[in-house]
Amino acid sequence: MMSNREYDLLVRRGKLLGQVDGKLVDIGIKNRRITKIADEIADNADVELDAEGRLVSPPFVESHIHLDSALTAGEPRWNQSGTLFEGIEIWRDRKQNISIEDVKKRASATLKQQAEQGILFVRSHADVSELQLIALQALLEVREEVKNWMTLQVVAFPQDGIYSQPGNLALLERALQMGADAVGGIPHYELTREHGVNSVERIFELAAQYHKLIDIHCDEIDDEQSRFLEVVAACAIATGMGAKTTASHTTAFASYNNAYAFKLMGFLQRAQINFIANPLINITLQGRADTYPKRRGVTRVKELWQNGLNVSFGHDCIQDPWYSLGSGNMLDVAHMGVHVCQMTGLPEINACYEMVTINAAKTLHLHDYGVEVGNTASLLVLEENSCYDAIRLRRKPRYVIAQGKLLTHTQPEVTEWLEKT
Ligand code: FE2
Repeated sequence: MMSNREYDLLVRRGKLLGQVDGKLVDIGIKNRRITKIADEIADNADVELDAEGRLVSPPFVESHIHLDSALTAGEPRWNQSGTLFEGIEIWRDRKQNISIEDVKKRASATLKQQAEQGILFVRSHADVSELQLIALQALLEVREEVKNWMTLQVVAFPQDGIYSQPGNLALLERALQMGADAVGGIPHYELTREHGVNSVERIFELAAQYHKLIDIHCDEIDDEQSRFLEVVAACAIATGMGAKTTASHTTAFASYNNAYAFKLMGFLQRAQINFIANPLINITLQGRADTYPKRRGVTRVKELWQNGLNVSFGHDCIQDPWYSLGSGNMLDVAHMGVHVCQMTGLPEINACYEMVTINAAKTLHLHDYGVEVGNTASLLVLEENSCYDAIRLRRKPRYVIAQGKLLTHTQPEVTEWLEKT
């Protein structure tokens, strides 16, 4: 029912992200859009929320997750070695009996878990190394079903490689024709270096042909000789597609010698591609072949950020063969990023918050994101009034507003002391 009031929803006395002077504002929402931001809005609305000085943030953006494998940890067996490659073996067995219903049920449950923690934009990979393309079909259906409260992007991800088996390349192309948003790849898992290079070049050709974004699992290995990132950079420079291109993981970058890494950084600045690090999972997956000293296995996040490149943090996995933990809380991801990447200075902590919000939105190529007049009204009222406290405490937002509607309200935890101290 249309309301005659000036606003459908008002958020009062919120502190906007990036507002350093402590000034509080009112935010007016009408017909799913932010229509006014002012010191004080005189009119009333059907629903009014008092932020009481808390941080009003754009939603969290999950830039890298595998919804098709989420919530399968232990099926059919636990990953004992903890390695990426045992994870791929286990998933190969588990996906023998996936169905559309199975994937949809787990993906939808995960998305709900994410939304109540403030994530309203998700990029998920869908494994397209399986003949029926069940995971892809299921995630495309879910994308449609959740679109009124969650924006879901789906990457066609050839988990087993493009050239490792005949037919895989055709499956990838079919996935793009079916409506995947982005082309994926895994060059370091192709059988040879040459196949890896060819796979990256083919991905760029497919993206241009079908007008898709690119998100490549790139060099997710501790091997310092795994150097497909330079190939991605070269293709991005040659095609001018850098802003639409993402290199995910790039953990080998942490093992490159500095002479090569410094040279590469210059190429990356020319390429202007996006980076996604997944600190929760890579701190556990990588370094498994090391004794001591043991590598951290997370890419050079701080240096990429210092060199002006766009970096975001992803969760990657929630309870699956690669990572049995995870809850869908992007503040957990940022918190781990602060630690593993040693970004503990206050501007660095604030940057880690941006890596799960505005930087990730840039990676997803979102054009209607942010708490600004004219944008779709998707925003969070956090429990805290700073990014620092948000990452330190990692609580659910008090209110999640999705596309102009109040989606969730979480009551904060209250602890009662029963003994006097
Ligand atoms: Fe991944």
